[in-house]
Amino acid sequence: QPPIEKTGEKVTIYINDQPVQADKGTNVLEACRAGGYDIPSLCYLRDLNTAGSCRVCVVEIEGTRTLQAACVYPVAEGLRVHTHTARVRRARRRAVELLLSEHNRECPTCVRSASCELQALARKVGARYSRLASQPRCEPKIVKNPFIVRDYSKCIKCRRCEAVCKNMQGIGVYTPLYRGYETVIAPAFERNLAEVACIACGQCVLACPTGSLTERSYVEEVWQVIDDPAKHVVVQAAPAIQVS
Ligand code: FES
Repeated sequence: QPPIEKTGEKVTIYINDQPVQADKGTNVLEACRAGGYDIPSLCYLRDLNTAGSCRVCVVEIEGTRTLQAACVYPVAEGLRVHTHTARVRRARRRAVELLLSEHNRECPTCVRSASCELQALARKVGARYSRLASQPRCEPKIVKNPFIVRDYSKCIKCRRCEAVCKNMQGIGVYTPLYRGYETVIAPAFERNLAEVACIACGQCVLACPTGSLTERSYVEEVWQVIDDPAKHVVVQAAPAIQVS
């Protein structure tokens, strides 16, 4: 989805029946936030990522039958938006529950626990992953360079790493691979980050909303890490628990 072009002109939209002035060319999410309406989002990064993949920002727009992702819906004169109807709140909760159903739930020992956007969002929308049958990916963490650990079991395919690498740093080492449940965001052909154009700037780690991308040194402090030089794969084991 290409970024929406901004022109500097203003349009009037109605958010929950209140008129709000919005920049022509911006999206409904930005317009709502500028107007003081809190809409959750996960995959969206302003001016960088408009993948529209998480569906957490859905809103009701009069004249459309289905709920719309506010982050990719352009504003237009007279647009009428409803941000917190029961249908919208239910859809947001389900979207987060679906993300959680595929997510590795080692939250208590995850290095991003308490600073994880998915965790915070789940609390905010009242999502309970136990409601859905789950099939989290359980794969070893991948350490294919000295700096960044990739953990596919926590990737929610928001593509924020891909967006910052490409649109902010101008490098673009990440790309979606495979299809459906097998999809991963990784360098082409799943190559080693040390073998591609990665400069280890860490922007992808900062952009990742979960513990899918982390700094290697930090992970090594928390986990017992055994590097398998043949596969470049880390086998992790929980830290020893002292029972007295
Ligand atoms: Fe809009 Fe993800 S934030 S679809």
